[in-house]
Amino acid sequence: MAKSSVSFVCQSCGAVHSKWSGKCEACGGWNTITEEGAAIPMGASARPRVKGRRFALEDLKTQEDAPPRRATGIAEFDRVCGGGLVPGSALLIGGDPGVGKSTLILQALGHYAKAGGAVVYISGEEAMAQVRLRAERMGLSDAPVQLGAATCVEDILATIEGGRAPDIIAIDSIQTIWTSALEAAPGTIAQVRTASFDLVRYAKASGAAILLIGHVTKEGQIAGPKQVEHLVDAVLYFEGERGHHFRILRSAKNRFGPTDEIGVFEMTGQGLAEVANPSALFLGDRNATSPGAAVFAGIEGTRPLLVEVQALVAAAGYGTPRRAVVGWDSGRLAMILAVLDARAGLGLSGHDVYLNVAGGLKIGEPAADLAAAAALISSFSGWPLPKDCVFFGEISLSGDVRPAPQAELRLKEAAKLGFKRALVPLGTKFEGLALRQIGNVAELAAFAGGVAQPERRLGVVE
Ligand code: TYD
Ligand code: MG
Repeated sequence: MAKSSVSFVCQSCGAVHSKWSGKCEACGGWNTITEEGAAIPMGASARPRVKGRRFALEDLKTQEDAPPRRATGIAEFDRVCGGGLVPGSALLIGGDPGVGKSTLILQALGHYAKAGGAVVYISGEEAMAQVRLRAERMGLSDAPVQLGAATCVEDILATIEGGRAPDIIAIDSIQTIWTSALEAAPGTIAQVRTASFDLVRYAKASGAAILLIGHVTKEGQIAGPKQVEHLVDAVLYFEGERGHHFRILRSAKNRFGPTDEIGVFEMTGQGLAEVANPSALFLGDRNATSPGAAVFAGIEGTRPLLVEVQALVAAAGYGTPRRAVVGWDSGRLAMILAVLDARAGLGLSGHDVYLNVAGGLKIGEPAADLAAAAALISSFSGWPLPKDCVFFGEISLSGDVRPAPQAELRLKEAAKLGFKRALVPLGTKFEGLALRQIGNVAELAAFAGGVAQPERRLGVVE
């Protein structure tokens, strides 16, 4: 039987229903369902026989010049973009509200404009006066940034189309932008997607680089950057813990550069300051004489980064022991605890365990396992780890320590920052540090005092 030619689509969440109703069962939105013509069925016979236009196919070797980059002059920002913004590209910057996205972008645009570039900043959230006040605080009042307050995508395009396209256009934020072609409320998936699509198409046609700012909510429920990620060329996330003054810009997708690259900034009263040597910052005021702290020699993107992993293992009161993690994956912690119990006989299961990555950084690398395990054992045994030692290596379920990529880069950074020793997986070679190769968690426990000095365990009821 032929499919009916209309369908009912929720303009808020995109769910398709077979009949109209006042409430969308999928997202709970009221009056969001509208009738739409159904997509043309796929199947060759059903397709109208329109003759397509021929186009030339090329081989992979065909050389095109690398796209020229538009560097903003903020080195950390440019590096995360892969060396600057590519003309005709669209970039999405996501992050929690209040993390500093508007500040970062205004600063980048201001710098670029001061160097003679043509930039447009469209604010859909803040009044012009607020943006001006921020620019003044950052000492960018005299930067020739073209400022506008608008939310309708047709208005925005009408304003910038015609005449010479600006080099960079920033839209703050994509959630406030709407198109009059749709009836859905601004911020809904349909609006965000359509408006982004129009802007991206303008970027491709005009050669302007477009920056879309988007809020991510903790629940991820409000239509936002996730729906736009596939439309844009690069996705950057601006992260940072509230209460910490570091901010990290991380590339999650980049068609023109490496991903997982990070740029580190420090928040100041005058805007964001670049941090050229983040390891020194994350190790900052380290008090290495207490147990439970291990320095992880990590890699973020193309850069080595040393950060302190702190653990606290304490006797649980009653009930289920507490497990709390900041900056690391809680599932990974559970796995490491289980491996330490099963393969090194530690007996952590009845204890409260807290794990914290210093400085508000989030670590995703499995190579952090060894540092986390060392910190846990050290806290459990009450035996401080050597102050001048770094750790890296992945721990498998069998308790073996597996090699991690780019060992030399990690160890070089450690040597540069004055570390003398490193606990590494088997087979790691490096000249500048005293290496101790660790094959499995039992050896690690012997090193970190977990089984060798049971009498030193603090707060443990035997
Ligand atoms: P804002 O850029 O408005 O965050 P977002 O656009 O992500 O919602 O910044 C939030 C607040 O933090 C704002 O009041 C300004 C302040 N701030 C500073 O004072 N210094 C800084 O370096 C940054 C990044 C922000
Ligand atoms: Mg903002």
